[in-house]
Amino acid sequence: MQKNILIIGACGQIGTELTFTLRKKHGSDVVIASDIREGNEHLVGSGPFELLDATDYDALEELVAYYEIDEVYLMAAMLSATAEKFPMRAWNLNMNSLFNVLNLAKEKKISKIFWPSSIAVFGPNTPKVHTLQNTIMEPSTVYGISKQSGERWCEYYYNKYGVDVRSIRYPGLISWKTMPGGGTTDYAVEIYHKALSDGEYTSFLSADTKLPMMFMDDAIRATLEVMESDAEKIKIRSSYNLAAMSFTPLEIAESIAIHIPKFKISYQPDSRQAIADSWPSSIDDSKAEKDWGWKAEFDLERTTSEMFKNLNT
Ligand code: SER
Repeated sequence: MQKNILIIGACGQIGTELTFTLRKKHGSDVVIASDIREGNEHLVGSGPFELLDATDYDALEELVAYYEIDEVYLMAAMLSATAEKFPMRAWNLNMNSLFNVLNLAKEKKISKIFWPSSIAVFGPNTPKVHTLQNTIMEPSTVYGISKQSGERWCEYYYNKYGVDVRSIRYPGLISWKTMPGGGTTDYAVEIYHKALSDGEYTSFLSADTKLPMMFMDDAIRATLEVMESDAEKIKIRSSYNLAAMSFTPLEIAESIAIHIPKFKISYQPDSRQAIADSWPSSIDDSKAEKDWGWKAEFDLERTTSEMFKNLNT
């Protein structure tokens, strides 16, 4: 039976590519894109699109009933740097949208949920290298606190109400179709655009700040793989650690210089440095590998080649 899918936050960095991929796979008519504002014209024109405030339960419930939605991908969230500026707005958006979707599933109005978590669930007391699935988690950012709480609630709804919710702790995501907005890992996208337009980039993180990162194609594949796996394989109902590569601003600059030899990087750390310093530098994702066969394909070199190939055309 064909399933109808709703993507909330479809105009964001992940939502855009997820919408295109799911429409290609299942057909445009069954993948309903929604966002609080109209973003990418191509996306809005490529299938059903609805304006939706994810914190409005009644509006969400109506949309789900109208389109007979089975699965929801909740990609709307306020990211780490913006959330530090608007703590209450971030908390309200990140938590209430999740509760709305979890409660729809509890009421059996939808049958499956994808909700993204993040490396931001870890904090300054977490061991930084090959950070394990189960370790100290004392996030020090509003965004991280909302994601950690969200993970606890996902697991709770699974245990108490049998809600089929699946989640991944995304690292920083690198993509060329849509810019990220308001995150700490955004530099790793901006740097490619600036390398092409200006031949130089001023990084808001220091040269040696190593963070876990992933190319968007890997992230989308992981998302579909975790959603398509048999339910009994998904043993973790909070959120899975996921990894592909880790690098510093200096290392990404070196990989860019292979393509643009004159490229120059300088460093002016701002308030985002403290956020980055509280996160792991690398992640152990062996549980995702063991439970549902996860394996990353893109390293830094391949990511840089793909970024330039697509941004240049
Ligand atoms: N990429 C996100 C951010 O920087 C982390 O999940 O906020």
